[in-house]
Amino acid sequence: MRPAWAAIDLAALQHNLKVIRKLAGGKRILAILKANAYGHGLQRIAQALSDIDAIGVARVDEALQLRNAGITRPIVLLEGFFDASQIPILTASNIQPVIHNLRQMKELSQVENLGDPLKIWLKVDTGMHRLGLEPDQMLSAYQQLVDLPQVHDHPVIISHFACADEPEHPQNKKQIQVYADVLAQLPPSATSFANSAALLAQIVPQYDWVRPGLALYGVSPFAGQVGGDHDLKPVMNLRASIISIRKIKAGESVGYGGQWTATEDTHIGIVAIGYGDGYPRHAPTGTPVLINGVIYPLIGRVAMDMVTVNLGQKLSVKLGDTAELWGAGLAVEKVAEAVGTIPYELLCNVARRVQLDYCER
Ligand SMILES: Cc1ncc(COP(=O)(O)O)c(C=O)c1O
Repeated sequence: MRPAWAAIDLAALQHNLKVIRKLAGGKRILAILKANAYGHGLQRIAQALSDIDAIGVARVDEALQLRNAGITRPIVLLEGFFDASQIPILTASNIQPVIHNLRQMKELSQVENLGDPLKIWLKVDTGMHRLGLEPDQMLSAYQQLVDLPQVHDHPVIISHFACADEPEHPQNKKQIQVYADVLAQLPPSATSFANSAALLAQIVPQYDWVRPGLALYGVSPFAGQVGGDHDLKPVMNLRASIISIRKIKAGESVGYGGQWTATEDTHIGIVAIGYGDGYPRHAPTGTPVLINGVIYPLIGRVAMDMVTVNLGQKLSVKLGDTAELWGAGLAVEKVAEAVGTIPYELLCNVARRVQLDYCER
């Protein structure tokens, strides 16, 4: 028997990459590996994507972890540097920051004795209103940046969609238009816009770089759909053993707070995974759990190390059997829907104590 583990299917990852390459139509791929590769293990996923064009992360320490692991692919820092003191670290480790505000530009222009100039990405806010320069700041920012000795060559012009997971949303067209208008003002530059949803729904030209995250891991960004609808295969299979089975009489309650009470005699199974492993504490009674090919409902409160499932009156599960919390047999999208969250959150919350078992199959 084992407490929670995640079987990481690297063959599925390669399959998804193939699907993405086809959709990208020969454009370059910036694979998004932030948040520990969406919970799949940063280093091993980066190693598995050995021929990817570049890797995107959100934090400097994620980028350095990759360099320390011997990853030599280009690395893009999606939020750029947080502080001027990080700039020399980026140069030394050949990490490409996204510049998304004027403060970063000023800090970059003031840094001395940088050594090699930095390759940079310049972000424009086309309507998400999170990161990026205003469209009317772009031309002057671009000109200032290309003149800086600290900057290598021309920046890649990057933007991000707010609503690509709703392909018909009118915001998408607006953002695409703003982006096109900005590009028209600038000297010819490399470009990047599409995340997984934009790529899968083909709502935008691929431009020069596509930036898939979720799709790489075999998961759909669209509500009501699963990765399989796009020929994607789930990479993570989150599992744990059944470590206790007991008989419960009608009227007896189960777990902390006695929140669930049996309405008839039944069997329950205790699964060795809890919120300490990243399984969501707010998963309600009825959240699906897969055991031996059958879906059983979660019951009662999720505890730190355990959850309980209702195995029914006729018992066909035995001690030591494996439960799948999500994976190839039970889509994480379905679990997210039951829990009232998105698959991104479930995946990247998988805790460090969950052992990641890689299989190449
Ligand atoms: C700038 C940027 N590009 C691409 C992605 C990848 O998004 P997705 O996982 O939806 O493909 C993200 C993730 O949030 C992002 O922040």
